[in-house]
Order: sequence, then structure tokens, then C-alpha cells
Amino acid sequence: MNQSQLMKEAHLHMPQGVAENYRYWGDDKTVFVKHAKGCQLIDSDGKTYVDFRLGYGPIILGYQDERVDSAVIRQIQSSGTLTGFATALDTEVVKQIKALCPQIEKMRFANSGTEAVMGAVRTARGFTKRERIVMVEGGFHGLYDELMWKSDIENWQLGDIHAPSVIPFGAGIPAKTRDLVDIIGLNDHEALEHIFRWRGEQLACVLLEPIIGNAGSISASQQWLQRLRDLCDEHGTLLLIDEVKSGFRVDKGGAQALYGIHADLTTYAKAMGNGYPVAAFGGRADVMDVVGSQRGAVVHGGTYTANLIGLSAAQATLAILSDTQALHTVHQAGEQVKSLLSRVFTRAGLAHAFAGPPSMLGIHFTPHVPQTYRDWRKTDSQLYNLFAWELISRGVMLEPDSREPWFFCEAHAHMDFAWLEDIATLALRAAMDKSVS
Ligand SMILES: Cc1ncc(COP(=O)(O)O)c(C=O)c1O
Repeated sequence: MNQSQLMKEAHLHMPQGVAENYRYWGDDKTVFVKHAKGCQLIDSDGKTYVDFRLGYGPIILGYQDERVDSAVIRQIQSSGTLTGFATALDTEVVKQIKALCPQIEKMRFANSGTEAVMGAVRTARGFTKRERIVMVEGGFHGLYDELMWKSDIENWQLGDIHAPSVIPFGAGIPAKTRDLVDIIGLNDHEALEHIFRWRGEQLACVLLEPIIGNAGSISASQQWLQRLRDLCDEHGTLLLIDEVKSGFRVDKGGAQALYGIHADLTTYAKAMGNGYPVAAFGGRADVMDVVGSQRGAVVHGGTYTANLIGLSAAQATLAILSDTQALHTVHQAGEQVKSLLSRVFTRAGLAHAFAGPPSMLGIHFTPHVPQTYRDWRKTDSQLYNLFAWELISRGVMLEPDSREPWFFCEAHAHMDFAWLEDIATLALRAAMDKSVS
């Protein structure tokens, strides 16, 4: 069946005809993947793409990486997928993570980023015996009711002195889940000081992505993040850094290694398994030790937790990231694409700025690197959207929204960079023509 037939049939069986919301791009644009290898996708109409979306970030080596896949197959053939008992692999993978991320003393596993964040937030509350949490505008922490509140930037007028209203992601989020959550702007010193003055003693944790993988890699300044760390210490609030997107990608030690600032609790997922479903949360031993079965402890568990498919994939992926030049190769590919795109934009006279590290590259049509999610409103995101669709039609896959960074994997080292420069030139010309007409 071709894509249009697949879409038609899928509509009979799933809401919007897709397995989860974010895959629906419209009846004529939704992609049905038939094959994925290295950094390439082939859709069900037989069209080939070089992929910079990489499943929203998990693919750090490449699709069907034989080193990882063969480790998983070996594991399944020797011990199956899960038994509901502990295995030696549990500790082995935690030890690998601890070797790369020095702030981790103890960990627990999960199956998705959402689940890791839920576990970490519950742990923070259990440890501090406080309930309030603070999030940062533009961040995304998964589909967990309480964290599904966001600043309505789309409907906020640029320059409005009032903060954007805070709205739920959609229907079904109980209004009461809003009661314990505050949202502050990234790099907003005043808001940071204010929230701690106002509610410092009630805050269980501040939860953030310092490099916002869900807002075009707009990044915390060193000074702001340090002040946040200090205020957390002064008020007995835990710093919870969500490295679901940045972990093992922006650096072997994640965003925290780039800043040299460490969290009390951290969440990981995506790149730790090169596309296999595995996640984890962990941090200070005294904090994590509040998790357990004793009376008054924080409950954590799950049937599929630390299943051998995910853990063997994590073991193989982390070993490659730790012992080879893979991440260096990923960063070089990102740098090369950044340079060639910069040439394309400059030749077209288009103001542009890149945000974040090369492995998770935010691309914005604006003269200045955005410092906050509100700054993203100053970027020409409509032109970016047109440019993205022109790229997609020419065989370059990416999310058609500048809030989603470009992701790179080791397999991008073998792509044709000159081809991409030509395609980007054509795509930009077509997008700019459409934008003026
Ligand atoms: C920073 C961050 N946290 C949490 C999540 C949720 O992860 P998952 O989709 O695996 O539940 C995401 C997903 O994109 C994310 O980017």
C-alpha cells in the first residue's frame, strides 16, 4: 500500500490514523516509514530521506546499528526479555552511567522519558516532604498530567508586559494539577529570585532542560544556571535536570558536563539506548535512598522496568559512546551542517542564529540567538516552516517547526554534505519566494 492508502486505512483504526499525536502531519503529509538504516529513511511511497529528526533524538549512532542490535539479540537469546527479577545487567548499566555522569550516585530505571520524570519528581517530593515544583517556559517533560501545563506563547503578543497565560496541553488535564506548579522564564533573573523569595521553602524541585530540546535548543546562561543551583542549595530545593534529550548527546556527561553544574536528580532516556525504549533517573544517594519498600518510602516500579531489551541496548550504546570517538563524529557532522547552512543563509541575505550544541542544533531566522522561549516569537518561524517543508519535499527529513532542533547521529558522517548544501539553497529560495508571494 502507498502512503495515501495506509493513511486511509489507519483512520479506521486509530484516532487521526496514527499511534500517537505527534506523528500526524495531515492526511497528505503523514509519513509511513518502511525502512530505516544509518541516517536514512525510506517511506512507503519509496521516497528516501536523510533524517535529522531521528525519532525526536534517540538515534545517536544510526538506525539499525549492528553493534547495538547484535548485543540485544544475543541478550534475548541467552536470557529472554524479562522475568520480573533482578539481573546483573542492572548494576552494570548504572556503573556505566556513573562513569560518564559523576553526579549520579544511585539510579532506578524506567521505560520512557515521561516515566523517568514522574519517578524523579515523586522522589524529590518524597525526599523534601514538599509538594510544589517549578518548571521553565518552553521545556517539555513528557505526557504526565501535572507537567502538561505550558505558557501559551503561540497566542501571546510579542512585547506584552503581561506574562503569557498558562494553559493545559489539551483536554483531560485536571485543573487541580495546575495548583502545585509554577512556571518561570529561562534566564529571567528577576523571576528566579522572586519564586524563591515567595515560595522557596515550599519547593520540592526546579525541573528544567538547561538546553531546551523542545524550544530550539535555547540555552540557560552559565550565570543563571549557577544562580539557580545556589538558590536551590539555600532553600533545600532539589535541582532536577531533565536530560532526556540532551543526555549522552550534547556531551558524554550531558548538559551538566558542558556547564560544570550538577543536579541533585537527573533523568535520561533517548540517546542512552539508540532507539530502544529505556530510561533512568538518579542522583544523590541520600535523595535516591528515599525510594524503597519501607514504610514512608517512595514507591517506584513497573513490569517492564529494566527489561533486557532496553538494558542490553543501553549497555552496548553507552559502551560505544564511552570508548569510541562516536560522539566526536556526531558533533563534527553537526558542525559541518551548521557551517553549510550558515553559508546558504548568508548568501540569501537571511539573518540567522544557531542555538545549542551541534549534536542538537537549534536553527532560528533572527539576528540574535534567542535567550528565552519568548524570544522565539521574534524569530521568523513561518519562513522556517516553509523552508522545512521545501527540504522535506527534496529528501531532507526534519520536524517542520523550529522549536525542534536538528539531531545528528554517527551515521551522518557518511552523508553527502555538498548535496545538502545544494538542496538547502534550492529549498530556501523556494521558501523565500513563497513567503513574499
Ligand atoms: C526533555 C524531555 N523530557 C521528557 C520527555 C518525554 O519522554 P518520552 O517521550 O520518552 O516519554 C521528552 C520527550 O521528548 C523530552 O524531550
